[in-house]
Amino acid sequence: MQLEQVRHVGVLGGGVMGGGIAQILSVAGYEVTVRDLTQEILDDTRDEVCTRRWGMKRAVERGKLGFDLAEEAIERISYTTEIEDLAPCQFIIEAVPERLELKQDVFKELDEVVNADAILTSNTSGIVIAEIAEKVSPARLPLICGMHFSNPVPVMRMCEVIYTPDTSEETMDTVRGVAEKSQRVVSMVRDTPGTRGFILNRIFAAAHREADKIVEAGIASREDVDKAMITGRNWPTGFYGSRGGIGKQW
Ligand SMILES: NC(=O)c1ccc[n+]([C@@H]2O[C@H](COP(=O)([O-])OP(=O)(O)OC[C@H]3O[C@@H](n4cnc5c(N)ncnc54)[C@H](O)[C@@H]3O)[C@@H](O)[C@H]2O)c1
Repeated sequence: MQLEQVRHVGVLGGGVMGGGIAQILSVAGYEVTVRDLTQEILDDTRDEVCTRRWGMKRAVERGKLGFDLAEEAIERISYTTEIEDLAPCQFIIEAVPERLELKQDVFKELDEVVNADAILTSNTSGIVIAEIAEKVSPARLPLICGMHFSNPVPVMRMCEVIYTPDTSEETMDTVRGVAEKSQRVVSMVRDTPGTRGFILNRIFAAAHREADKIVEAGIASREDVDKAMITGRNWPTGFYGSRGGIGKQW
């Protein structure tokens, strides 16, 4: 599947990540169908995309998005509880909860529903992509990739694209192209069995372990660790949320 052939993207899961992903793809011009389990959840997804903090209405108010573009993008997103409605999609982004079995089952289901040349990607934070793909047909393997977005998706521009030994060059190019067309900065990452997380989460976890050691040894308080990282390294969230309290904008 080549980049120019991708017009309709299916998003599995309309939660924290799925809504944001649907939003940036529709702004990029893709037709998007979001599938979740109940209409109630999907109504919430639509609110998130249209009117909440990172949604399109606020983006228009902040001057980040034109009014007409936002209106058109909102129109391009449809919402469904039926997996069969994803059948016409050339490209899928799965963003269901972080459980291997669930993701394997969702991939198997998708493999049976979409066309033979459709690309399947997962927004997993850390599961090995080849394991998620274990239940799909062998013919689908060249069309599978990871696509790890950062939260909140409309404002965090990173997308790690994770390729397995089976992923074809064409799939890698198309996945990178879809991400870049959606205004993402892409890092390519080799899928690595026996590890947990790709670039971002591995480095964050390593730094967090070191921060914990500093706190546990009584070398510095949590707040002082956060202060050091936030103001000395521009690491905006720190580790312990110390900046969240009123009057703590050091
Ligand atoms: N939240 C984050 O900061 C973050 C960041 C990067 C990646 N991720 C990854 O993104 C994925 C989703 O995380 P989230 O935070 O959006 O989770 P979430 O719980 O907010 O949303 C998941 C949604 O998937 C739906 N769902 C469950 N089974 C489904 C199915 N079979 N078909 C369709 N929808 C289904 C749920 O109803 C829910 O609405 C996880 O793999 C997570 O690790 C999360």
